[in-house]
Amino acid sequence: MSRTMNLTLHVWRQRTRGAPGKLVRYEAKNVSDHMSFLEMLDVVNEELAGKGEEPIAFDHDCREGICGACGVVIDGVPHGSSRGTTTCQLHMRSFHDGDEITIEPWRAGAFPVVRDLVVDRSALDRIIQAGGYVSLRTGSAPEANSLPIAKGDSDSAFDAATCIGCGACVAACPNASAALFTAAKISHLALLPQGQPERADRARKMVAQMDAEGFGHCTSHGECEAACPKGISIGFIAKMNRELLSAMARAPNDVPSREK
Ligand code: SF4
Ligand code: FES
Repeated sequence: MSRTMNLTLHVWRQRTRGAPGKLVRYEAKNVSDHMSFLEMLDVVNEELAGKGEEPIAFDHDCREGICGACGVVIDGVPHGSSRGTTTCQLHMRSFHDGDEITIEPWRAGAFPVVRDLVVDRSALDRIIQAGGYVSLRTGSAPEANSLPIAKGDSDSAFDAATCIGCGACVAACPNASAALFTAAKISHLALLPQGQPERADRARKMVAQMDAEGFGHCTSHGECEAACPKGISIGFIAKMNRELLSAMARAPNDVPSREK
């Protein structure tokens, strides 16, 4: 059986990157508890469009927790307070009739607001472009048993690979650090045979790019792990630091920007 609720929303509205923004109050009426958070925003937007007002801009794509496009701060928590959940998978059954909900964009200097709840996360793409790939020809998929990978490494690489690049870790961190995202991407490839030839270069270049984008340093608050919808462990940040140290030991003169 479904129940409906009436909610009061306080939504960040900002027309352009440089324009001043403010929280605007909206009433969301007859919201079904079966709706996702984004479907609730869709209904509010239809009403706004019907009145000739500008709909609220927000990012989304797959709406099933795999693309990383969605993401807003809900009552101060990136993706809301349900653990391990993206905004698109957050259901309205987590809320109650009469609730007041504050909805804001990711807050980080490296993620400038594009409009309303949409931020520019291309800084994460540039970290990937700096080395988060395998540029060597690896041929077609080998027969699984011809390239054995230790179970622990394979599990760990898979865990790291589940990062969807949403940026909630950055939004949750008091330093706006992208360490968890970068660490997941470095670790994923460092644990697999295909990632070995470029392993040291990759760690150096990706960390240097992370710093160049203006993200803060990790000071082990752990807020990133708590906000991550995929449960990426901060243990990967320790692995990233080990990867970087070992890369620097191999080529001490080729150091990333933060060490110069
Ligand atoms: S580490 Fe988690 S929070 Fe950060 S970008 Fe990846 S999935 Fe999102
Ligand atoms: S819209 Fe793809 S993860 Fe939420």
